[in-house]
Amino acid sequence: MLPYRVGYGEDAHRLQVGLRLVLGGLDIVDAPRGAVAHSDGDAALHTIADALLSGLALGDIGQYFPDTDVAWKHLDSATILRRCLALTRERGYRPANLALVITLDQPKLGARRAEIAGRIAALMDLDASAVGVSFKTSEGLAPDHVQARATVLLERL
Ligand code: C5P
Ligand code: MG
Repeated sequence: MLPYRVGYGEDAHRLQVGLRLVLGGLDIVDAPRGAVAHSDGDAALHTIADALLSGLALGDIGQYFPDTDVAWKHLDSATILRRCLALTRERGYRPANLALVITLDQPKLGARRAEIAGRIAALMDLDASAVGVSFKTSEGLAPDHVQARATVLLERL
């Protein structure tokens, strides 16, 4: 068994007026538009869950939570993340640190960085200092979607 494994994930959702925007388990109440999604559309948590699975070559969350399954409609993405963390532990690994990038033109999220990192850290049983959260605009190139990308380092239990 490798002592460390790296995982990478990404996710994107289209934005539409009148929908919720949830990122890292937090409602972004001042968002002018929210995510079009089968679940709660939390691109950050979907990305992290995919990064965990990718690090262990376990495929992606679509295999475990198919968006055709009514059971997962409006699903709280923390449930998806917890399931992927359980799979990670079953395989003998735990996350050591995480780097997450969220690309979104509006609203600005910098003021909520510590809150988002803290919430993700709590969900993952990590110290907040192990969760790096960066924000980028698309410079107007992709104003109609929210995109997240993440790398995670897994260490052997
Ligand atoms: O993408 P760009 O380099 O233009 O981002 C400039 C700054 O805006 C960065 O410091 C970033 O943290 C912040 N930002 C933000 N919320 C976003 C996008 C970018 O706070 N939604
Ligand atoms: Mg998603």
